[in-house]
Amino acid sequence: MSYTVTKLADFSTAALDCAVRELLSALETEAESIRDWEQWKRFRDRWVARKNGILTQVRESWLKSAPTESKADVGQLFNRIKAQVEDKVDEIRQSTMSWEEERESGRPEESSAQSYSRASDAIRAIHLAKHVDVTLPGIRRPLGAEHPVIKTMNEIVGVFRNLGYSVEEGPEIETDYYNFEALNFPPNHPARDTQDTLFIAGQESKPQRDRLLLRTHTSPVQIRSMEKMRPPLRVVCPGKVHRNDAPDATHSPIFHQIEGLAVDTNITFCDLKGTLDHAMKALFGSSVKTRFYPSFFPFTEPSADVQISCIFCGGTGTRDGSPCRNCKASGWIELLGCGMVDPNVYGFVDYDPAKVAGFAFGMGVERIAILKYGVDDIQLFFNGDVRFLEQFA
Ligand code: DAH
Repeated sequence: MSYTVTKLADFSTAALDCAVRELLSALETEAESIRDWEQWKRFRDRWVARKNGILTQVRESWLKSAPTESKADVGQLFNRIKAQVEDKVDEIRQSTMSWEEERESGRPEESSAQSYSRASDAIRAIHLAKHVDVTLPGIRRPLGAEHPVIKTMNEIVGVFRNLGYSVEEGPEIETDYYNFEALNFPPNHPARDTQDTLFIAGQESKPQRDRLLLRTHTSPVQIRSMEKMRPPLRVVCPGKVHRNDAPDATHSPIFHQIEGLAVDTNITFCDLKGTLDHAMKALFGSSVKTRFYPSFFPFTEPSADVQISCIFCGGTGTRDGSPCRNCKASGWIELLGCGMVDPNVYGFVDYDPAKVAGFAFGMGVERIAILKYGVDDIQLFFNGDVRFLEQFA
């Protein structure tokens, strides 16, 4: 009589053992009688068919009805049975396949005893070296890709590395001293306002300069680099910064900046202009022009905003006959801040302002990526949507 899965009332070890033995012996007996491909297919469907194969029945009637305390044991048992059944189906498939091949290649028919012993040889061989089924679809291993922000950051760093800059990094959790005080921010400068800065809670007992905050820019790494090294010095400092801004298409509370600093004995504003003009051409193409527009930062004097000629309208202010929306028809796009290091800053790092001079600059990485790739919403960089991200692979 052919085997059927019975319902279990008793989940004791002995009862489970008995049920499993009965099942596995039926598996062996049925497997032994298989002689051709059609029989194997029937055998396979009977045991592993997803809808009503014996394995599915075992899962339904043993595993699901097991009392909670036996669930884990029955689960393990089921996994063992499943592995054995699947192995058996695979073994028999392999040997059936080799008989069929031989039959097709016109060899004289073997006696069933011969073919049985050949089949068990094959099975043993399979046991020794687990067979690879070359007919199965391969396992896809998709390659990861650089995030567009990191890609842009690396590209910018690369431009400055080629100019002889080295790379420095600093902490994202900074003290008030490095983020503001040593950068010559007066005590009640608006940038210290909680509107912009995310302060770490519970710091009130400390003196102001030791209080912790999430750095609002990468400029504190200027100070840390100057504390560590003596001039001449040329560094770029890439990293993550934080501001208390509500997210929208152009703002994100977390974004990235790259800071630059060069200090030597005879650095002038011309060096700053030449360096940034070169960098913008390297990033946006050699036809891009730069313009330095007076500005203010507490740690540079004089300070400037750098604008590049609009890469969308070629600096003309009009595109397809209508005003260019990207540069508000001005022909220029503001991109970064820069200036000559304020002598007050040298006082904090023990450089002699009478002997050294230098320039600094800071740029937003997302802003550059948005322009380079024509992205219209900064949030796309942070939503983690692979359909967006894989376009940069
Ligand atoms: N830290 C400034 C900001 O986040 C950017 C900046 C401006 C950096 C001028 C500089 C600089 O090094 O010289 O807005």
